[in-house]
Amino acid sequence: MIRVRDADAADAATVRDIHRAAFGQDDEADLVAALLRDETAQPVLSLLAETDEGAAGHILFSAARVAGRRAALLAPLAARPECQRKGIGGALIAEGLARLRGAGVAAVFVFGDPAYYGRSGFAPAHAHGMAPPHPVEEPWRDAWQAVVFAADTGSGRVSVARSLDDPVLWQV
Ligand SMILES: CC(C)(COP(=O)(O)OP(=O)(O)OC[C@H]1O[C@@H](n2cnc3c(N)ncnc32)[C@H](O)[C@@H]1OP(=O)(O)O)[C@@H](O)C(=O)NCCC(=O)NCCS
Repeated sequence: MIRVRDADAADAATVRDIHRAAFGQDDEADLVAALLRDETAQPVLSLLAETDEGAAGHILFSAARVAGRRAALLAPLAARPECQRKGIGGALIAEGLARLRGAGVAAVFVFGDPAYYGRSGFAPAHAHGMAPPHPVEEPWRDAWQAVVFAADTGSGRVSVARSLDDPVLWQV
């Protein structure tokens, strides 16, 4: 049984621990902390997945813009190593997309493995004429993906929060 709820300030240590365990480094946990205090990332959607054994995964969406419309960027996502392949990541993505759609966001973007995110409805964003904030090298072009809710969403370069607006983050 997976429950997904909003993460709040009291969950900060738990969220940090999930990302450190999943990625084996501090970078993504640091990115979460930076985005939470970055005013250009607001509103963020920070969701925690819990099972009967406790906190199992976390996802963060931060504010973005495309063609003058509100959008969101998914990063980062993590499930504890011992909790992976049990639907935690998929449940967090599904809840996030449903909430953002309900909030009137035009599109949600991610820079990640198409084989994984394609399972949750993401498709290459270049097909919609939506370019990443910084150039992505050719082999990883299709890693820049989107779920587009509003069919009349325009095209152009997507702008993201200051904490994500670093060319280094867009290299694999
Ligand atoms: C990626 C991650 C969040 C997936 O979480 P999860 O809870 O295991 O995902 P789900 O259970 O919803 O889906 C698992 C399925 O996705 C597949 N999958 C997991 N990671 C994948 C990847 N990188 N590429 C392709 N498929 C992947 C698994 O094979 C599994 O499919 P199967 O059970 O049919 O074999 C988790 O593996 C993780 O935290 N990894 C380390 C951190 C990371 O890489 N985060 C993503 C950054 S973009």
